[in-house]
Amino acid sequence: MATASIASAGVGTSEQYNYDIIRKFAIMTLIWGAIGMFVGVYIASELAFPFLNFDSPYITFGRLRPVHTSGVIFGFGGSALFATSYYVVQRTCQARLFGGEGLANFTFWGWQAAVALSALGYMFGYTQAREYAEMTWPVDLLILFVWVAYLAIYVGTLLKRKQPHIYVANWFYLAFILATALLHIFNNLQVPVKLFSLESYSLFSGTQDAMTQWWYGHNAVGFFLTAAFLGMMYYFVPKQAGRPVYSYRLSILHFWAIIFLYMWAGAHHLHWTALPDWTGTLAATFSIMLLLPSWGGMINGIMTLSGAWDKLRTDPVIRFLIVALSFYGMSTFEGPMMSLKDVNALSHYTDWTVGHVHSGALGWVAMITFGSMYHLVPRIWNTQMYSLRLINVHFWLATIGVLLYITAMWISGIMQGLMWRAFDDFGNLQYSFVESVAQMHPFYVMRALGGVFFLTGMIIMCYNMFRTIRQGSTAAHAGLNVAAA
Ligand code: HEM
Ligand code: HEM
Repeated sequence: MATASIASAGVGTSEQYNYDIIRKFAIMTLIWGAIGMFVGVYIASELAFPFLNFDSPYITFGRLRPVHTSGVIFGFGGSALFATSYYVVQRTCQARLFGGEGLANFTFWGWQAAVALSALGYMFGYTQAREYAEMTWPVDLLILFVWVAYLAIYVGTLLKRKQPHIYVANWFYLAFILATALLHIFNNLQVPVKLFSLESYSLFSGTQDAMTQWWYGHNAVGFFLTAAFLGMMYYFVPKQAGRPVYSYRLSILHFWAIIFLYMWAGAHHLHWTALPDWTGTLAATFSIMLLLPSWGGMINGIMTLSGAWDKLRTDPVIRFLIVALSFYGMSTFEGPMMSLKDVNALSHYTDWTVGHVHSGALGWVAMITFGSMYHLVPRIWNTQMYSLRLINVHFWLATIGVLLYITAMWISGIMQGLMWRAFDDFGNLQYSFVESVAQMHPFYVMRALGGVFFLTGMIIMCYNMFRTIRQGSTAAHAGLNVAAA
């Protein structure tokens, strides 16, 4: 019933829904995607060719790395989540956004300012030194206000809904909004050094501090990079395939299991450290259990295409969505394996982790975003995509890019791990650290090349979108309606 409602809803109009805010976030998704990935390619090149640091503190690897992670996760991913969640909640509830233009615009300007200020701050050396939560306390406060407004808009719109049912995608988006609020508040409990200082001290210390940080870090993956993008998947895959989701019951099971299990697994980021041993065992157990709902969700998404497999040949947008689901399956198989203490003893501190991250980040997060944006943008500008052929070119560049990136990191990571633990007959270390660094060089070049492929695809997407938007705006001025059904 619910799927029938999303399958039959028409394109909608700007009068009926607030599309203006979605347009703004969609444009920023493209801009942050290009910036964040460019910085990714640059830092990957710095690791391969250190002269690129140019002895300038502002662009050293250490400072640009969080510019990259914040740009892609919060700028690109965050803007895509705002855009798609505002679209999905309005369409599935058949209600305009709660709170009017002003509140929605506040979330837009507030979020963009937070990402831009963070990125600039990192280049100038202002950081809280907590991974994925590097923002200084004034930016943390700004994010807090934006997030409260976001929650109010989302819940308010759900309460205004004209549909009795709350479609499952909204459940995932809502869990992401609530969990992110919780994580953000507790991981940023800080005491500023002075009132007008950007420096602050964490309220926690030692082991508790590390545990709080990785409870945050892991659930940023679980709720920001996973649950929210699953919300995207549950709307855009059935929509683009023109079929109801494979099993609505499975989607509900998937939801509750994911939400319950993720929260307990953070300590797998801190195996073999000062944490009590049982916390690592608990985290590994929950990580292994996570495999089941993750694969349930992947199967649910992929099987939505059953009976319409031919679309994989003809529709490049579906290809993005289905390949994203395959990478989701792959990274959620790899993650539980890496959470086992013995495997982690080899993988931790190596590039294997970076490979795992990017099979999730490029393969799952970026690919599902690309597919969803190719569906959404022509609809909110009331037109059709400028070029299907360019979407196809983007698809192949992105796929080759991810494959180059992750294979390079697997080889380099496992090699590092094995070299660091190799002993000679006398019990001495067989290799010095610098020997392992020298061995990694070709794989760092290969990773940078993979990044160039991925970035080129992103730039082609920007061009294709620019032409599409221009076409939509010109048609709107001429009073034409060329929207796809
Ligand atoms: C052109 C594409 C990209 C390239 C070339 C690239 C490159 C890099 C490099 C070189 C690092 C530092 C690795 C290290 O510290 O050894 C990194 C870290 C990271 N990147 Fe990317 N990246 C790209 C796209 C993305 C995207 C789209 C996302 C997220 C949606 C992402 C998320 C991350 C995260 C979370 C880390 C931190 C990993 C960790 O701490 O283990 N990247 N990236
Ligand atoms: C069942 C699902 C998953 C499990 C159990 C899992 C488990 C793990 C483990 C064990 C690590 C290595 C920790 C370490 O040695 O430091 C890790 C790192 C990471 N994973 Fe996953 N993973 C899962 C899915 C994903 C997905 C879908 C993404 C999406 C982008 C992702 C993103 C990351 C990131 C960003 C890190 C690096 C954190 C850091 O050190 O900065 N993971 N994951």
